[in-house]
Amino acid sequence: MTSITSNTYAVHFNDTCYKELNAYLKTYRFSLIFIIVDVNTHEHCLPKFMSQLETDVSIEIIEIEAGEQHKTIDTCVGVWNALSDLGADRKSLVINLGGGVVTDLGGFVACTFKRGLNYINVPTSLLAMVDASVGGKTGVDLGSLKNQIGVIDSGEMVLVDTSFLETLPQNQLRSGLAEMLKHGLISDRTYWNKTKNLSQNTLNDLPQLIYESVLIKHAIVEKDPLEKNLRKHLNFGHTLGHAIESYFLSHPEKKELLHGEAIAIGMIMESFISAEILGFSKEDLNDISNVFKTVYGLESIETEDYQAIIELLKYDKKNEHGNINFVLLEAIGQPKIDCLVDNTLLLKAFEYYKNLN
Ligand SMILES: NC(=O)c1ccc[n+]([C@@H]2O[C@H](COP(=O)([O-])OP(=O)(O)OC[C@H]3O[C@@H](n4cnc5c(N)ncnc54)[C@H](O)[C@@H]3O)[C@@H](O)[C@H]2O)c1
Ligand SMILES: [Zn+2]
Repeated sequence: MTSITSNTYAVHFNDTCYKELNAYLKTYRFSLIFIIVDVNTHEHCLPKFMSQLETDVSIEIIEIEAGEQHKTIDTCVGVWNALSDLGADRKSLVINLGGGVVTDLGGFVACTFKRGLNYINVPTSLLAMVDASVGGKTGVDLGSLKNQIGVIDSGEMVLVDTSFLETLPQNQLRSGLAEMLKHGLISDRTYWNKTKNLSQNTLNDLPQLIYESVLIKHAIVEKDPLEKNLRKHLNFGHTLGHAIESYFLSHPEKKELLHGEAIAIGMIMESFISAEILGFSKEDLNDISNVFKTVYGLESIETEDYQAIIELLKYDKKNEHGNINFVLLEAIGQPKIDCLVDNTLLLKAFEYYKNLN
């Protein structure tokens, strides 16, 4: 797989990634290397990663707790303190080895410590490979509000070693698949068709589909790194998805939803809204609903939850001048940004989702 490069960073895949990393480490003489892991990637990914590293620079491991509930400023403070205690300076390198929580938080920590250290993302979850590790968005949650604090900085490189997926739990694999399906819906019907047919039981086709997914995301981000227009396409399913994710996160009686599981619901509902106001094909809407229902099942969202979830939409980062801006679809591969949706239609979308049962 050919590396994907831009002016500022590169994404390297399986066969070339460690060669590129080792060459980079040779070129830049870092004072220290810090590898940020969570408990799980410490156990499952770090041994393999270390065995591929060729460097005499001292390496320190900083471990954080696993899970979205730890993507907080408190965790950052812990990592900043660890960096400080262990003697990190401006010539130190941070390597984030983990899922989206580690790459988002580790990227943010690196960008803010002493006003910015070089960092590299080594995504180990499917979601981080196809989405979180690419495109430079870093940050943490503020209470139950997702990704409210952060900066955009792509770091030095992303190394995608798909063999890390061998230890990733099945539900996490499905969560990442949601972003791949999204990439198809916003940009390419052929990719949507290939990805929706990906058998859940085989990883054989996955590396190529991951590669194509990164290509899709990279092409969008490259044209609009600061999310002025085109990059907003990547938020398809996320306006409602994030609100649902936040809502479930802050209601302990609700099951904890993985990011991909939440945006799968968001994509169904936003496809429905697209069909109502943008003439999106009903046939495609049925297909989308069936695909997501088959892969993710249906969550129970009750009538009494609707208004509270709608309230959370006002924290969406795409909002401008008090308007909630949705990304909807005119067709598969044809997103439309800055769409306004009224309350009645939102309620109808919740009902549509509920009636899929
Ligand atoms: N920056 C962006 O552009 C962007 C895009 C999408 C999502 N995100 C963020 O990404 C986060 C979700 O990422 P995620 O789904 O990777 O979550 P995660 O980092 O919590 O990883 C999921 C779980 O899998 C474990 N894990 C990761 N790799 C493993 C492996 N190889 N073997 C065994 N276990 C492994 C982790 O320890 C964790 O328990 C969210 O916070 C979301 O906001 C960011
Ligand atoms: Zn997402």
